[in-house]
Amino acid sequence: MCGIVGFVGRQGDALPFLFDGLKRLEYRGYDSAGIALAGQGGTVSVAKAQGKLAVLEGRLGTLPRAVPLGIGHTRWATHGRPTDVNAHPHTDCHGQIATVHNGIIENFQELRAELVAQGHRFVSETDSEVIPHLLEAYGGDRDLLGAVREAERRLRGAYAFLAIAASQPDRIVAVRRSSPLVIGLGDGVNYVASDVGAFLPQTRRALVLENGDVALVTPETVEIQTSEGTAVHRAPFTVDWDMRQAERGGYPHFMLKEIMEQPQVWSDCLLGRVRGDHIEAGELGLPWVQRKDVRRLQIVAAGTAYHAGLIGKALIERLARIPVDVAVASEFRYQHPVLEPGTLVVAISQSGETADTLASVSLARHLGAPTYAIVNAVGSTLARESDYVVYTHAGPEIAVASTKAYTTQILVLTMLALELAAERGRPRADLVRALWSLPALGEQVIASLASIVEMARRLAGERDVFYIGRGLDYALAMEGQLKIKEIAYIHAEAYPAGELKHGTLALIEEGTPVVAVVTDRAMAEKTLSNILEVKARGAEVWAVVDGALPHDWPVDHLIRLDLPDPLLSPVLTAIPLQLLAYWTAVHRGQDVDQPRNLAKSVTVE
Ligand code: AGP
Repeated sequence: MCGIVGFVGRQGDALPFLFDGLKRLEYRGYDSAGIALAGQGGTVSVAKAQGKLAVLEGRLGTLPRAVPLGIGHTRWATHGRPTDVNAHPHTDCHGQIATVHNGIIENFQELRAELVAQGHRFVSETDSEVIPHLLEAYGGDRDLLGAVREAERRLRGAYAFLAIAASQPDRIVAVRRSSPLVIGLGDGVNYVASDVGAFLPQTRRALVLENGDVALVTPETVEIQTSEGTAVHRAPFTVDWDMRQAERGGYPHFMLKEIMEQPQVWSDCLLGRVRGDHIEAGELGLPWVQRKDVRRLQIVAAGTAYHAGLIGKALIERLARIPVDVAVASEFRYQHPVLEPGTLVVAISQSGETADTLASVSLARHLGAPTYAIVNAVGSTLARESDYVVYTHAGPEIAVASTKAYTTQILVLTMLALELAAERGRPRADLVRALWSLPALGEQVIASLASIVEMARRLAGERDVFYIGRGLDYALAMEGQLKIKEIAYIHAEAYPAGELKHGTLALIEEGTPVVAVVTDRAMAEKTLSNILEVKARGAEVWAVVDGALPHDWPVDHLIRLDLPDPLLSPVLTAIPLQLLAYWTAVHRGQDVDQPRNLAKSVTVE
C-alpha cells in the first residue's frame, strides 16, 4: 500500500530523510516511487520512477540539495498502471504545487472533467492527479491551507494526502480521511508519514491524525483543524518500540526471521494473560463482553486473518459451544448482514488498517453491534475505532506474507475460547496450563524441520498444488495454500479432504502434488483414507502429521511434529506450512518479502 513521507525544516536537507523514510516504508509494498522538493520560489522539483527505490535513487541527482521542504511517496497502483508518469508526487499545471496521496478519490472522474473544462492539463491516468489541480484552482499557490480546505469539501473517498507549494516553503499541509497519517515532532523540523517507522531514527515523539483532520505542519508548529475549520488538539505520545525490532536480524528475509521468532512472540502474547491454570479474563475484555450479553460471534477479517478466524470459530464452538460465523470482510460489508441482538462482531487484523475490515466494523457499529478487535498494530485505526481491542503483540511484521501475526491471532482466539468456555461452565484447565508449553514446543518444531528445505526444492518445480485437511487441519490447509500462492506464485487450492471425491479428484493424476495436514487425531483415519485415494491416482504427497499418530503414512515427503492436544496444535502446525512456502519461493528465486502485486497493508477496498 502507498507510503507517504514529508519533511519540513527551518534549514537542512529534506532529501536524505525522504529517501531513507521511503526505504523504511518499503515493507508496505509498492510498484513506483517519487520525491518532490520545494525551495524558495521557482517551481517544485520532482524525481520519480517505476520500480524499486534503487531506480529512483539513480534519478535523485536531478534534484537540488539543501532544500528543507519535501514530500515522498511509494505507490501501489490502483488507478492507472505502475509507470513513471503515474508515480507520485503529482503537480499542478505550473509546477507550483506538489502532492502525494494514499487511498482513492472516488469522484475523480467528475472532478477531472470539470478541471479539464477549466483548462487544466492532466498527464497521468491516476485519480490522485486531481488533487494538485484542484488546489491550483482554489489558489493554493497563494494560500495552500485555504485551498486544501476548499478542496476537502469536493473530494470524496478514503484517503490521506500531503501538499507543498513552491511559494510557501515553510509548510506541509496534511489531510487524513481514513488512510493513516502520523506526525513526527523534531527540533526545528517536523515529519509526516504513513507510519512512525519512517521517522523513528529522527524522533520518537509523534501524534496521530484522526479522520477528517487537516494539519498545517511547519518546522516549529503543528496546527490541526477539522475540515470545518475547528481547531483540535491531538495528544503527542512517545513511541516505545525499537526500529531494530523490525530489521532482519541476520536472516536473508524478513519472512524467515518472522517465522523463526514465533516462539518468542507467543510468549509476549501469553504474558500477563495466562497464569497457571487460569486466564486473566480482564486482559481479554471478557467482563466487557459479558455485560453485552453475547450469545453469538461474527468474525470479520481478510486473507490470513480470515484463516485465523476459521480456527477461532472451530475452537470457540468446540470449547465454549457458542455459535460463530466467519466472513470475509469485503463480502460482509455488502451482504446486508443480519446481526441479531447478542451478536459480538470480532474483527481480526495485523495492520488494523485493512479498508474492508474497517468498513465492516463501521457497519457493525452502525447496526448497533458491539465490536471487538484483535489487532497487531498499536494505535491503528481498527484499534481506535472498535469498542474493545486486544493486541496480539507480534511486533512489527514486515514481510508481506503474514506469519507471526497469524499465529498470535490464533493464540488470542484460543485464550478467548478457553475463557468463554470457563465462563459457561466448561473449564479446560489442562489446556490453559498447556498454553505456556507452546513457545518451547515451537522451538522444537523449528529445530526439527531442516529437511523441509529439500522437500521444498521438489515442490518448486510444480505449477499447481492441492492442500487437504479436515476440521482445524482444513483451516490450516487454507492458510498453507495462500502462503504458497502469494510468495512462490504457484497455483494452489485447499479442499476439505472429504470433499475431493465430489469433483476435484478428477484433477489428480501421475505426479500431482498434494500437501496433506493431519493433526486432528479424531479424524486422522479419515484423512489417511483420502491420502490413499490421491496416492492411488498417482499424486506425490507431502504430509504434515502429528508424530503421535500410530499410522504408517504412505507418502513421499513426511513431516512429523511433536504436538500437544489438537486444539492447541494449529500454531505449531502452521510453522512447517510457512516454511514449505518460504523455501519453495526461495528455490524459485522470488522476491519473498515483497511479492508482486501485493501490499502489506491493504487500505483500499
Ligand atoms: C497475508 O499473508 C496476506 N498478505 C494478507 O492476506 C493479509 O492477511 C490481509 O491483507 C489482511 O491484512 P490485515 O491482517 O492487516 O488486516
